[in-house]
Amino acid sequence: EIEGSLRPKYLSDYIGQDKVKNRLKIFIDAAKMRKESLDHVLLYGPPGLGKTTLSNIIANEMGVNIKVTSGPAIERPGDLAAILTNLSENDVLFIDEIHRLSRNVEEVLYPAMEDFALDIIIGKGPSAKSVRIDLPKFTLVGATTRAGLLTSPLRDRFGVICKLDLYNIEDLKTIVIRSARILNVPISEKAAVEIAKRSRGTPRIVNRLLKRVRDYAQVVGNGEIDIDIAKKALNMLEVDNLGLDSVDRKILNTIIEKFDGGPVGLDTLAASTGEEKNTIEDVYEPYLLQLGFLKRTPRGRVLTRKAYEHMGIDFNKEDEVTL
Ligand code: ADE
Repeated sequence: EIEGSLRPKYLSDYIGQDKVKNRLKIFIDAAKMRKESLDHVLLYGPPGLGKTTLSNIIANEMGVNIKVTSGPAIERPGDLAAILTNLSENDVLFIDEIHRLSRNVEEVLYPAMEDFALDIIIGKGPSAKSVRIDLPKFTLVGATTRAGLLTSPLRDRFGVICKLDLYNIEDLKTIVIRSARILNVPISEKAAVEIAKRSRGTPRIVNRLLKRVRDYAQVVGNGEIDIDIAKKALNMLEVDNLGLDSVDRKILNTIIEKFDGGPVGLDTLAASTGEEKNTIEDVYEPYLLQLGFLKRTPRGRVLTRKAYEHMGIDFNKEDEVTL
């Protein structure tokens, strides 16, 4: 089976993110009733939550084609012009990592989004002329990990802005059961919950872990995933009981050992863990915040008692001896 087959094709198969789903359903239905293109949609939130999946669903629900590209892939204004002029009426253009568009490219996008037009300069010097070309109406679906990374003129041109949140265990469990059915692997409810609990709120991770647990069940067991097989497989993968991996643990250990639990600034934390600042903010922090392990304060990041307990380290700072 291919990765894509686990992805839902329509809103009704898409589990979780109810607020986003309900809103999109209304805006899509309204656009269809008016036979218009859907307004431009910005999807933001941590990686792996289904931004690409949702953009495909939007195109399927609208009954139009989708063109998929990304901010870094559109190097020059001409690249974007080529994509825009090849769209058909009401198509979806999905731009992943849209915060990484260059300034020049962004400026071509503004009139395209606002007026469905392309302004091109013909000639050079005093005889240069600006010519406006009409584009087909289209829906831009932009995805980014944080809305704050976008320039405000770009952000302002989206009519629909949706924030995706980390999934709860219940929704992740439902995704595991759905995916297991598609993969044709028997799984117990308890095992599905166990995989859900260790997936850091992220469907992409839940599906990856399910596939690896399936491998383990096939080779070590009889092919069925029960709680015992699931736990053994997940332990082999070194995913702890909350889904934390070695980088999460390095971040927690660094704050505990080098900064006495914080507060520590993001730059300092990045330098002392050797991880990219953006990776810490986009990939690691959201889940640590959701777990209640980390707090953001004006003076920096601070670990909570829960984080210490999970790491098996005493929260009381015993080195401060009082006489
Ligand atoms: N697979 C990945 N994400 C999903 C979702 N939100 N609903 C159903 N299946 C999924």
